[in-house]
Amino acid sequence: MTDKYAVIGNPVAHSKSPQIHKMFAEQTGQDISYEAILAPLDGFAATVARLRNEGFKGCNVTVPFKQEAWNLCLPTTRALDAQAANTLKFDAERIIGDNTDGIGLVNDIEKNLKISLKDKRILLIGAGGAARGVLHPLLESTQSPLVMKVIYNRTLEKAVSLKKTVEQHAEFRTFIIRAVEFGNLGNEQFDIVINATSAGLTDSEIPLPPNIFAPGALAYDMMYGRETPFMKFARVHGAAVVADGLGMLVEQAAEAFFIWRGVRPVTAPVIAALRQA
Ligand code: ATR
Repeated sequence: MTDKYAVIGNPVAHSKSPQIHKMFAEQTGQDISYEAILAPLDGFAATVARLRNEGFKGCNVTVPFKQEAWNLCLPTTRALDAQAANTLKFDAERIIGDNTDGIGLVNDIEKNLKISLKDKRILLIGAGGAARGVLHPLLESTQSPLVMKVIYNRTLEKAVSLKKTVEQHAEFRTFIIRAVEFGNLGNEQFDIVINATSAGLTDSEIPLPPNIFAPGALAYDMMYGRETPFMKFARVHGAAVVADGLGMLVEQAAEAFFIWRGVRPVTAPVIAALRQA
């Protein structure tokens, strides 16, 4: 029997997840269906309840419901840290919630772009939901407490609050993490600069010093589908690699597929197919 899955969002019509999971299913021979479901803004919990009643096995969750999903589920550590869930797995009694965004970003950088995060100086721009979702796995991957990590945000308090969240973990207590407000970066250079803000949606510039990119630096924008002002800036100011978030999207989906089906799809052909579409 075909197992049913979905992505719930509002809006959701633009989502590439149905296409991605269809390609994963074909590639791995898994008998699943996957559809996009628009939930009313005040109707996320009811939509999840309906899907469970209809026998769905799980769902992905996208904007603006990731935090609500986290409140509804039994969270894994990854979801707990992110305070958001993007992957729900239904069993008879429980809704297990995970967050695969962070591992998706790490896998895209390390596996697809072949850039190691170990010992790298990291500038994470943004302190909203997207940044929160990826910080813990990023810190874990750098491994070295003393190498500089900066959370850089328009609103300082949100950067400070995110820093405090991760510092609660014993494993990060010795990490040097700074919270910096827009405009207050010094002369430091970074090896990995990640844009986790939604500034690209409105084509807004992010104030960055022109010498921010260390030799060989990666500039990564978690948005996809368009060249953001951040990516343009990075190309002009010497980033060695400039990437958008399409690979992260496919990698987070692959991790969700693994959670549901216990099978890991190969992501490279799926990323290539989406780039060509
Ligand atoms: P998301 O889930 O996409 O992270 P969010 O939680 O609303 O959405 O967070 C949006 C992030 O993008 C925040 O870091 C926000 O900065 P503030 O904390 O100062 O609000 C950032 N952001 C949004 N629009 C921006 C813009 N035009 N310029 C710079 N930063 C912006």
